Amino acid sequence: MRAVDIIQKKRNGGVLTKDELSFLIEGYSKGEIPDYQLSAWAMAVYFRGMNAEETAHLTMAMAGSGDQVDLSPIHGIKVDKHSTGGVGDKTSLIIGPLVASCGVPVAKMSGRGLGHTGGTIDKMEAMEGFRTELTRDEFIAQVNDIGLAIIGQSGNMTPADKKLYALRDVTATVESIPLIASSVMSKKIAAGADAIVLDVKTGSGAFMKTLEDSEKLAQAMVEIGTEVGRKTAALISDMDQPLGYAIGNALEVQEAIDTLHGRGPEDLTALCIALSSHMVVLGGEASSLEEAEALLRAKLESGAALAKFKAFVEAQGGNPAVADDPMLLPQAPFVLEVKSTQDGYVQAIQAEELGLAAMLLGAGRATKESVIDFAVGVTMKRKVGDKVNEGDTLALLHVREENAATSEVAERVRTAYTFSSEPVKPSPLLLSVVTENGVKRF
Ligand code: URA
Repeated sequence: MRAVDIIQKKRNGGVLTKDELSFLIEGYSKGEIPDYQLSAWAMAVYFRGMNAEETAHLTMAMAGSGDQVDLSPIHGIKVDKHSTGGVGDKTSLIIGPLVASCGVPVAKMSGRGLGHTGGTIDKMEAMEGFRTELTRDEFIAQVNDIGLAIIGQSGNMTPADKKLYALRDVTATVESIPLIASSVMSKKIAAGADAIVLDVKTGSGAFMKTLEDSEKLAQAMVEIGTEVGRKTAALISDMDQPLGYAIGNALEVQEAIDTLHGRGPEDLTALCIALSSHMVVLGGEASSLEEAEALLRAKLESGAALAKFKAFVEAQGGNPAVADDPMLLPQAPFVLEVKSTQDGYVQAIQAEELGLAAMLLGAGRATKESVIDFAVGVTMKRKVGDKVNEGDTLALLHVREENAATSEVAERVRTAYTFSSEPVKPSPLLLSVVTENGVKRF
């Protein structure tokens, strides 16, 4: 087999076989096929696309390129969740304990963040003493014991995806639905999930800017899951503003805890319940979404989900008292107000801008080597639809020091808000659901 023939076949609109895709991915992983040939192939895929079967073969070739986690020693159906990324997205910290409290085991591997704010792993490390590295045996034993463990990704999972993603990044081939879908699903499959729930974001702050494209991406991922025997469902949610009010690691942990207390922001709570409902159904602990939702709400109200969070924090070396005393989380020395310079109704809040603002304060990484400041970040005081008068506080900046740089960040936050003189109705958060039965708009 020769890479050039495979590139030519795809360039001419042909359908690649399992063997051809395995040949490309294995050869690329081993360094036997050069970057320039994979770049040409990725561009051919960008223009010609891939059918569901090809996309599934590519996914499995990438999933098999490195370590694969065997979760079979864990009892029950293991359901994983993945988000296509969002500013202020702390859903894993809420969904993990919530779903585990319903009896569905959650054995999750998460990433660190690059750019914007931290990833789930960084957020958990904002709790002093929290260990995000467990041995395989500790990981499995903890899930069997308390139903939940979240750890960092192992160093050698899906190396082919890592290499290909970096190549796509510099060859203008990221925005290809089959390439994104196979990249995401290869990581979930290598992580050992039996079933997968996807949180696909749409809107100005997301990868996919339109609902139609987001649905196509969701469908591609659901088809891969179905094709390889993993039940998969996807929810499409709006990202025209950040989720919840908090952006920044300790601030987001606090908001997650508030949500587990039952007093979290409405949008965050609604998304967590919706995603968790699918996980509980796929995990076999409810026979319908309605039954799952009732069970989840009962677990929130009874304090069972919060108790699960405390057990989880304790098991991974943190202090469970953090769930009742926010002052145990890192606190920024200064809190500055960002005030509105105009009257009006909040029309939109650019999520990426607020993520960048939090990063500039130290909440995220500009490079892989950057050290995160867990305490700093932004809390919004106004969201889309709110009425604002000149001089009202739009957001708070939690900062390490007050200086010219923080004033610039304040200006960035102010300009991330746009206003209308007419009342604004926020767009609904949940837009559609995609399962193997098709797309359903809400
Ligand atoms: N996220 C991924 O993991 N892969 C992509 O290709 C795009 C987003």
